[in-house]
Amino acid sequence: MIKTLYWEDNSLFLLDQTILPHKIEYVECTTYEDVITAIKTMVVRGAPAIGVSAAYAMALAEIQNIDLDKAGLEIKAARPTAVNLFWAVDQVLEKVNQGQSAVETAIQMHEDDINTNKKIGEYGNTVIDENDTILTHCNAGALACAAYGTALGVIRSAHQHNKNINVICDETRPVLQGARLSVFEMQEENIPVKLIVDGAAGHMMQKGKIDKVVIGADRVAKGGVANKIGSLMVALAAKRYNIPFYVAAPMSTFDFENNIFDITIEQRDKDEVLCIQGNYIAREETRVENPAFDIVESDLITGIITEEGIKKPL
Ligand code: MRU
Repeated sequence: MIKTLYWEDNSLFLLDQTILPHKIEYVECTTYEDVITAIKTMVVRGAPAIGVSAAYAMALAEIQNIDLDKAGLEIKAARPTAVNLFWAVDQVLEKVNQGQSAVETAIQMHEDDINTNKKIGEYGNTVIDENDTILTHCNAGALACAAYGTALGVIRSAHQHNKNINVICDETRPVLQGARLSVFEMQEENIPVKLIVDGAAGHMMQKGKIDKVVIGADRVAKGGVANKIGSLMVALAAKRYNIPFYVAAPMSTFDFENNIFDITIEQRDKDEVLCIQGNYIAREETRVENPAFDIVESDLITGIITEEGIKKPL
């Protein structure tokens, strides 16, 4: 699998996820401001990948001799919903206060994320049965993390355990992370995959064509889980047809301080909705709402697969 990000000669290289799957190009970040721009424009996206990138942004700020508290505040303002961003900046600040360098800390966090995902995969494999067809929404794969993935890590692990499984990816409008990224990841590893439009998920469940749902998370907090817009509708349909609905997420995605209904849901640009690959599909002046995430309430969730085991929702 190609690398989502890597650190070389005091630069952070980010795989440009805005042009996948058609082009494979890296964006070089030499300043913490470059990383902020990459997070805002979704060159890098997905909660754990945003977290690791934020840690490297702090490393770059250290190299630039910028006050880390100041840089940390700017980095935290890049996107509001994925809690890993805030967690990563705070982790670096804490380690720096203990005398460790930000560069060293970021490299360690990068390695930890990969190991964490592999553990999530191992626990997740225990809930996947032979011949399961698994629906996933958005991209909670290697591209959303340092490597391996959370929801797609569970699928990878089941595949590596030689289980015969099939994957169905929602396309995930408006940014199409399912079609562009999750399908790509599955194809790269020869894991059988089909793409559906978001509106087809309920129909597929009603027809008995889906056995499990596994998605990732941007934040787990009291009351539920925030994840990519459309996750709630998938969860409601899964409940209707008694299909187990799992969330796979590292402990760094847990927010023990806030209620999930009090968090900020990111609103993104209207052109994400109005255009597909640069072509307007409605009049340019059309009024739009573009919430990037929704909340899956705790009672819709069968379990949260973490590196510490499978937990009940908060
Ligand atoms: O807007 P994005 O692409 O950053 O949103 C990503 C998601 O919603 C993922 O499902 C989530 O971050 C989990 S990633 C392991």
